[in-house]
Parts: sequence; structure tokens; C-alpha cells
Amino acid sequence: MAEAFEFFQAWLKNPLRVAAVAPSGKALAQLITSEISHDTGPVIELGPGTGAFTRALIERGVKQEDLALIEFGAEFAEALHLHYPRACTLRMDAARLRTANIFDGRPAGAVVSGLPLLAMPPLKAAAILTGAFRKMRPDGAFYQFTYGPQCPVPRKLLNRLGIQARWLGGTLANLPPASVYRLTQIPPGN
Ligand SMILES: C[S@@+](CC[C@H](N)C(=O)[O-])C[C@H]1O[C@@H](n2cnc3c(N)ncnc32)[C@H](O)[C@@H]1O
Repeated sequence: MAEAFEFFQAWLKNPLRVAAVAPSGKALAQLITSEISHDTGPVIELGPGTGAFTRALIERGVKQEDLALIEFGAEFAEALHLHYPRACTLRMDAARLRTANIFDGRPAGAVVSGLPLLAMPPLKAAAILTGAFRKMRPDGAFYQFTYGPQCPVPRKLLNRLGIQARWLGGTLANLPPASVYRLTQIPPGN
């Protein structure tokens, strides 16, 4: 309840950045983390907010030390650092991810994004995706949720970046209902 209030207050102050009136529910958190386990290795989370997906990642066996939490909101970043002191919490714009020093240079196995990608200018979305794929192993996957009816990354941008998107699933048990896409690099030669 306190978490929902904290989230709502942040939305009142900055509706464009927070982009939702309530944190994601458990069903969406389980769906977006469903392919991630301890074996995935380091995981980057973009826009964790109050930590709905962070909790699910830890429940799936990802160690705090293997988590980088990239959050622009000072109110969220401070609380995340208190709750997950062994994770690497960085208060920064995810569009600068490329320059961030995380995991001592070890590549991540996955990126979980709670960012309002659909509402962002294409150049910013491109910078976020480019940075994320630079920080991942070639077989790494970028998981993005959306409230919209299709992948929130336009096809033109996917093609330009050599990325393919697959629908992972959807849940009605979220307010509003949401679905998740898995974005991966198109292997060279395909
Ligand atoms: C829709 S909320 C999702 C929060 C949480 N992942 C959830 O599902 O409940 C979007 C989050 O992304 C953060 N955010 C928005 N733009 C950002 C940016 N450019 N860089 C980093 N975080 C950003 C917001 O502060 C907020 O925490």
C-alpha cells in the first residue's frame, strides 16, 4: 500500500516520466522475468520504479550483486539503494547506459525494461536499445512490456538496429492489461 502511494505521488509530480499511476502487478512481473534465472548471469533493469520486477528477479534466483538498477527518478533510486544495498543502483537516464560502468565490464545476460519506451522520442529509444545491446552478451535478450496492442519499438527502428521482436505473452491481471516482448539481436548472416 505504501509502495502504491509512493508510486502515485511520483506520477503526480512527473506523469510523463513515471507513465503509470500504479506499479506493475505480480502477474506482469512474473511474465517479464519468466525466462530469467540464476544462470542468466548479470541482469540490467531499466526503470525499476518501486521494484515490482526487481523482487521477481530476486525470487527467480538473481543475486543482488548481479543486478544493475538504472532509474532516473531520485525518489525511486534512493529507495532502491536502501532495499537492495548489494545491487548497483545508478540514478541516471537509461539513454546514457552505453557509458555506464557496471559489472566490471562483464556482459549482462538480460535487460528487463519498465521504461515508457512507447512515449519516448525515437532517438532516445534508439540510444537506450543501442546501449542495452552493447552491455549484453550476443545471446542476451531485452524484455519490454507495453500496454499497447503491438511491440512498442517501431519496425523501422528494429530493422535499423538489427533486432528482432517476439511476443512473449500477455496478462489481463494487470492494471491496465499488458504484454511483453523479447528483443534479440538478429544473428549475422540472417
Ligand atoms: C511505467 S514505470 C515502471 C516502474 C516499474 N518497472 C513497474 O513496472 O512497476 C516507468 C519507470 O521508468 C523510470 N524512467 C522513465 N524514464 C527513464 C529514463 N530515461 N531512464 C531511467 N529511468 C526512467 C520512471 O522513473 C519509472 O520508475
